[in-house]
Amino acid sequence: MKKPPMIPYKRHAIMCCGKSCGENMPLLNYLKDKVIEAGLTAGDPDAVRVNRAGCLGVCAEGPIMVVYPEGVWYCHLDEAGIDQIVEEHFKGGKPVKSLSFHHYA
Ligand code: FES
Repeated sequence: MKKPPMIPYKRHAIMCCGKSCGENMPLLNYLKDKVIEAGLTAGDPDAVRVNRAGCLGVCAEGPIMVVYPEGVWYCHLDEAGIDQIVEEHFKGGKPVKSLSFHHYA
């Protein structure tokens, strides 16, 4: 079986863009821009892969985002929250407790 190439990354941030979370494409694009601005892209040891989901099955208190490998779930996201997550979680390695509601690790 031929396998597809994969660019290495450290974290995977999946943001819900479903109806109950406000179909928030602008916020997803804001996150993508912030990740690029922070240099957390391919080749960086702390690279973050950002994807959207149609619905993550929570559907309350959105916008919702989950970040792996830690399994940290965030709610009530806005631009200020994204700034804090990029700085403290993605760059600093510490999930933002005040914005999270579940953490499986
Ligand atoms: S619509 Fe966002 S979790 Fe369901």
